[in-house]
Amino acid sequence: MATVPNDISDVIEADRKNVWHHLIQHKPFESVDPRVMIEGKGMRVWDATGKEHLDGVSGGVWTVNVGYGRERIANAVRDQLIQMPYFAGSAGSIPGAKFAEMLTERMPGLDRVYYCNSGSEANEKAFKMVRQIAHKKYGGKKHKILFRERDYHGTTIACLSAGGQPERNAQYGPYTPGFVEVPHCLEYRAQVETENYGEWAANQIEEVILREGPDTVGALCLEPVTAGGGVITPPEGYWDRVQEICKKYDILLHIDEVVCGVGRTGEWFGYQHYGVKPDFVTMAKGVASGYAAIACMVTTDEVFEMFKDPDDPMSYFRDISTFGGCTAGPAAAVENMGIIEDESLLANTTAMGERMLDNLRALQDKHRVIGDVRGKGLFCGAELVADRQTKEAIDEKKAQAVVADCMAQGVIIGVTNRSLPGFNNTLCFSPALISTADDIDQITTAVDKALTKVFS
Ligand SMILES: Cc1ncc(COP(=O)(O)O)c(C=O)c1O
Repeated sequence: MATVPNDISDVIEADRKNVWHHLIQHKPFESVDPRVMIEGKGMRVWDATGKEHLDGVSGGVWTVNVGYGRERIANAVRDQLIQMPYFAGSAGSIPGAKFAEMLTERMPGLDRVYYCNSGSEANEKAFKMVRQIAHKKYGGKKHKILFRERDYHGTTIACLSAGGQPERNAQYGPYTPGFVEVPHCLEYRAQVETENYGEWAANQIEEVILREGPDTVGALCLEPVTAGGGVITPPEGYWDRVQEICKKYDILLHIDEVVCGVGRTGEWFGYQHYGVKPDFVTMAKGVASGYAAIACMVTTDEVFEMFKDPDDPMSYFRDISTFGGCTAGPAAAVENMGIIEDESLLANTTAMGERMLDNLRALQDKHRVIGDVRGKGLFCGAELVADRQTKEAIDEKKAQAVVADCMAQGVIIGVTNRSLPGFNNTLCFSPALISTADDIDQITTAVDKALTKVFS
């Protein structure tokens, strides 16, 4: 039960009058109350009407990985804020040093952590490093950054320029030059019929490199499992070939772990499932499970050493992140990682992720509207189609109706949203890593009922 009194009509009025929420049309709020979340405990949240929900999306955007109400994190943040809340990142901090050590111990081959405060900002740091390396080593020429169709890397203009989701980008141009798209690797919607789709999809990256000129391409930025673009797990053989290509053309590999990072897929990082050796890894959402804002850009000693020429005053990374100096983030991140370890949440994520996929496949047998089920760990998707043969995507209003029906049943699930024109049709499931078998079954039972209702 929620402990906060339910009559907070003054809060709702203040919200309606003064708050601009992210990624949502506000016209309906003229006649319907905006949703205000009041309290969370474990897997459950309560809204302002007092209604309880099972949260199947970890705070809406794959974030609250260790669940709500963690006193261990709150106490560590409180103690740290009283001791030392902030100092600019040119100096170190106790939790900053401690978390960097913990993190890099779990990322063999990576050594240096740069702190900032959002996934977009972490990606921008990597983009800036790639550009600076191009100037240091290649007279500025090897500056282009490749990104993939359907991937998303953040909300700033440079991140949108590296964004493969046209509905996220539309109306925000002109974009930053020097970003080039490569084709997606969603096997369910393979661009060609071929025996070895993974290798084919990776080879398309090589085609783009050859077209642009290998001496102009500095980095390739990819999500290990594409999130908002449709929960796309990589096809067999994809990553091996991608790495070969990067090596061949001396291209730095930047893995965007903003969603997958810190446990979501059942390993600490998504790339660790596929034997990938990245040059840059960026992370945000699950790093402190949303208890404090923190993002990290992690790189190798090899990259770090390039920024160390004492005779050149311009040689170091001349970047600032004011709130990268907040200590609440790393203090929360240390406890978050400790909880994942102490409660064996990686193993739980693997086991519960398999249960979720099994349940979704059973629903696929029952409901023709589910065309494909995909996922890794507690990061799953079910793509809805009007016709299994043609794979025509379902009208997105129907996909949204499934989400709304689950919500009415007290279960929060997600759907790809304003990403790809005509293809916002993948239901998204990303419950906290603490999920039990009952939680998983409750989520998929709600989906079963919603599909029956919406499509009967
Ligand atoms: C893969 C990926 N990268 C980057 C971002 C941007 O993170 P933020 O919203 O913290 O800037 C997101 C956000 O959803 C994301 O899904």
